[in-house]
Amino acid sequence: MLAIIGGTGLTNLASLEITRREVVRTPYGEPSGHLTFGRIGAAEMIFLARHGYAHTLPPHEVNYRANIWALAKAGATRIIAVNAVGGIATNMGPGVLAVPDQIIDYTHGRKQTFFEGDEPVTHVDFTFPFCARARELVLVAAEATTQTVFDGGVLGVMNGPRLETRAEILRLGRDGCTMVGMTSMPEATLAREKKLSYATLALSMNHAAGLGTSSEGIKLADADTVLAAGMEKVRLIIAKAVAMHADLPDSERGLA
Ligand code: HPA
Repeated sequence: MLAIIGGTGLTNLASLEITRREVVRTPYGEPSGHLTFGRIGAAEMIFLARHGYAHTLPPHEVNYRANIWALAKAGATRIIAVNAVGGIATNMGPGVLAVPDQIIDYTHGRKQTFFEGDEPVTHVDFTFPFCARARELVLVAAEATTQTVFDGGVLGVMNGPRLETRAEILRLGRDGCTMVGMTSMPEATLAREKKLSYATLALSMNHAAGLGTSSEGIKLADADTVLAAGMEKVRLIIAKAVAMHADLPDSERGLA
């Protein structure tokens, strides 16, 4: 089954016909909230709001392990994660959508593995942090809804919750990051440990600190306006992706 993890600006899906809500207990503590099960058209899916349904959990306090464990337990084989990001590359200005293909992790102090305690040491391959099939699904769904979405990009993941300094963003740019967010790690690696197919649909809601319209600072009110408009496009793409996923043969509904 396909699961959607909604980030900032996406705490619900209007087109989702909710069938049930389930509070999942996990060995890692509480997920961000109940899992919402439902249908878009005839296609079943699960929704989870990463920051809680009232958007109360900051990026560093999200229980990523509990979220991924709960979704896997509930039968998710694929996750499309939605993330609001800041744009670093010149083509990643406010309002632009992208499906990144790489990650650089700058987070610290987050529980980033299920392999601890008595678990045998396991190193998952993470050369390509996103599942090629899941990325393709999002890109094809976007095309079908005539939304422009960039194929590729390097997502730098910062700890937050504060936004970055200008120097940090310049450094991220030198490192090759084309966008910056706060929540894709350890979410992506935990999904990989659970062998889930995982891709991200990123919405740039502002130029990153010190760049473009943020040269004098990030104007959060403007960013919120961009976010609201952008998430309407995201909703259309997600609805299409859910339908397309349901039409795939079983063999293509998981990690490539
Ligand atoms: N930096 C980090 N995370 C973000 C940003 C940003 O500028 N915008 C939205 N999420």
